[in-house]
Amino acid sequence: MITTDHQQSSTGDSDTRNLPSPPAVAQVEVGLLQNFCTLLYCADSREAALVDPAWEVDRLLREAARLDVRITKALITHGHPDHVEGIAALVSATGATVWVSAAETNRVHGVLRGSAVGQGADVAFQTVGDQDIVPIGKRGVRALLTPGHTAGGTCFLADGFVVTGDVLFVGGCGRTDFPGGDTSQMWASLQRLAALPEETVIYPGHNYGTTPTSTMGRELLENPYLRCASLDEFRALRERKRRA
Ligand SMILES: [Fe+2]
Repeated sequence: MITTDHQQSSTGDSDTRNLPSPPAVAQVEVGLLQNFCTLLYCADSREAALVDPAWEVDRLLREAARLDVRITKALITHGHPDHVEGIAALVSATGATVWVSAAETNRVHGVLRGSAVGQGADVAFQTVGDQDIVPIGKRGVRALLTPGHTAGGTCFLADGFVVTGDVLFVGGCGRTDFPGGDTSQMWASLQRLAALPEETVIYPGHNYGTTPTSTMGRELLENPYLRCASLDEFRALRERKRRA
């Protein structure tokens, strides 16, 4: 597990303007698909939000206990089962509210209906819209709706870092050929992320790269999907990799 307390930095455009103080981050790799769950927490109030609860909820709860934080929210980047199959277990254990974009809510409900735990769980949902602030104790993050991998894919931006789900990986990006995927939207979402300050630390949804995290500056130099000069070039690369 990697734990980092990010410092605030000066900010620029509308995505980064007036961000709250950033939460601390604990990145935990879980399951057999190299998924990352990301724990965001306020060092003052000890309140925490868990991004994409899945696979090893018991272990995630132990990490929260070790950090002496209380999980009150689950933040969902998108509704693919490998990112949300632990929601019911997490809610059962903590009473956490599930924060998810409107376009991903049905997918999450579907995963819950299909799980034995989920059928009996009383799950409270909170819809997140683009640029909504999600408070985490005295800290917080901003939701960025970034479709392309799925219709309502969401990144969570803090002052100094961004949790990118399956939109941006270290050295890669999410596939666009699943239901709800859209290559043009993915291109636009990646361009939006690429406009973040170069020192922004990337916390992706999978450990697919050479390192667990990166920075936007490094990705702009090394990530072939961010180095594409046009949508056509991006589309050709995305589809060529898909066949590989
Ligand atoms: Fe996914």
